[in-house]
Amino acid sequence: MRPSPHRAPGLLLVLLALAAQAPAEKTPALWPWPSSVKVSPKLLNIAAENFLIVHGPNSTAGPSCPLLQEAFRRYYNYIFGFHKRLHGPANFQDGAQLDQLQVSITLQSQCDFFPTLSSDESYSLLVQEPVAFLKANRVWGALRGLETFSQLVYQDSYGAFTINESSITDLPRFAHRGILIDTSRHYLPMKTIFKTLDAMAFNKFNVLHWHVVDDQSFPYQSTAFPELSNKGSYSLSHVYTPSDVHMVLEYARLRGIRVIPEFDTPGHTQSWGKGQKNLLTPCYSERKQIEKVGPINPTLNTTYTFFKTFFKEISSVFPDEYIHLGGDEVDFECWSSNPKIQNFMKKKGFGNDFTKLESFYIKKILDIIKSLKKGSIVWQEVFDDKVELQPDTVVEVWKGENYLEELREVTSSGYKAILSAPWYLDIISYGQDWRQYYIVDPLNFQGSEKKKQQLVIGGEACLWGEFVDATNLIPRLWPRASAVGERLWSPATVTDLDNAYSRLVTHRCRMVSRGIAAQPLFTGHCDREHKMEE
Ligand SMILES: *[C@@H]1O[C@H](CO)[C@@H](O)[C@H](O)[C@H]1NC(C)=O
Ligand SMILES: *[C@@H]1O[C@H](CO)[C@@H](O)[C@H](O)[C@H]1NC(C)=O
Ligand SMILES: *[C@@H]1O[C@H](CO)[C@@H](O)[C@H](O)[C@H]1NC(C)=O
Repeated sequence: MRPSPHRAPGLLLVLLALAAQAPAEKTPALWPWPSSVKVSPKLLNIAAENFLIVHGPNSTAGPSCPLLQEAFRRYYNYIFGFHKRLHGPANFQDGAQLDQLQVSITLQSQCDFFPTLSSDESYSLLVQEPVAFLKANRVWGALRGLETFSQLVYQDSYGAFTINESSITDLPRFAHRGILIDTSRHYLPMKTIFKTLDAMAFNKFNVLHWHVVDDQSFPYQSTAFPELSNKGSYSLSHVYTPSDVHMVLEYARLRGIRVIPEFDTPGHTQSWGKGQKNLLTPCYSERKQIEKVGPINPTLNTTYTFFKTFFKEISSVFPDEYIHLGGDEVDFECWSSNPKIQNFMKKKGFGNDFTKLESFYIKKILDIIKSLKKGSIVWQEVFDDKVELQPDTVVEVWKGENYLEELREVTSSGYKAILSAPWYLDIISYGQDWRQYYIVDPLNFQGSEKKKQQLVIGGEACLWGEFVDATNLIPRLWPRASAVGERLWSPATVTDLDNAYSRLVTHRCRMVSRGIAAQPLFTGHCDREHKMEE
């Protein structure tokens, strides 16, 4: 039998001394940090073969809630699965024990629903001998609380699982906490997307912004327009079939993650032109010859009949209430080279102002999305170019240094905003760039507190795919994106970089032990039990 610290006070002192030397190994490294945490020095043992995660007796989500059943199984495995195989079953039974985690949902359950922007993710967690209680209004909060509970459990130096008695209440600071993946520059296999969703759940992200298609390839297999991916994908094996998409949606839903598809137009659309005739604008050379194609052709009625059908499909395939419409970086040169477009401009009285043509186009697309009862998200150019937006259109701020000023303008015009400008994770440099993501405060601009709270709905870490595919996506994203995850979840007052560093080192090793190939933060090593499976 292994010695028990609770039976041997002398040994306890030794352990405390060890704890003081290596705090990261001895204290729970919660990430992101909850809004209120109270940890007591009382330690409880947890034995894998005795411990149960169960529905609380008063829960409105009983055993017929598959979403929670799945989550209980998953989190049991995160806590014990790997270690059990490494150490064999524990036979360490002395001292105070934790036998159960009872999970209760107090409002009517949402087991079959998809999460939304207004999903309640709050929870409270009370860990005490012999039963811990996790309470949430909705299943979404229960998912977040299970993650936190799993992060409280750690192995002591004898390999026994322990947890401090503690009390936590928690809720996110921002409702929209996203990761952008780009499946056009490089196709990402399903396995990579699933791993990304796993890691997102470990960091309490709740939006997968799926930049599905772009100039380079069109991997989305449309049922209405199959030629788009037949001709526009890199190859017929580089497509997402309807069943692939369905699997991503379900995998995400079970982790409380929304999937927002982006179909970026009118620019960034070269790949669309391969499978759909007359959609793109012919660009003319100086010698008045058609030499290539440019953005979507906004002057043809067929363009809009196409998009009506296309977005009707998208709005039924993707359950989320929002569709991202892109709208960034439109090439006006091609439009201005085309005599038919010039004529159209004249007829409409747009003069030489191509932002007016852009507005004309985007407004029609926004109307289509509205008629499908969906909300729209656009990149900031659409706002900058003074396109007439719907009152509920969300503007994603992505450009350069002046993003706080842009946030001020967007919100003072009454629009909702998402921030991604400081979080372009595709841009890499030597050293700990997570720190620069961490110190951002999205609300650090002039404006009424009320407006800020209402209108800045969150942010996104973006990993554009020019130099990223299945070989390097996970290590490039994690743990760098974790910094953004904590910024978007934790209270604004959680800003201590040293404290964050020591928690993040452990959190990164925890991700590694859960099969996420998160790259190191700096020199050092993970504990034995935190090594990568495989
Ligand atoms: C957990 O309990 C141990 C043992 O009493 C104590 O050393 C440690 O500081 C506690 N952790 C926290 C975060 O308070
Ligand atoms: C369940 O509800 C009963 C009656 O309202 C209450 O006495 C009990 O404390 C509740 N149990 C839990 C675990 O919340
Ligand atoms: C395009 O639609 C507009 C408005 O419905 C209509 O006035 C115009 O004649 C149509 N153009 C063509 C070429 O069909």
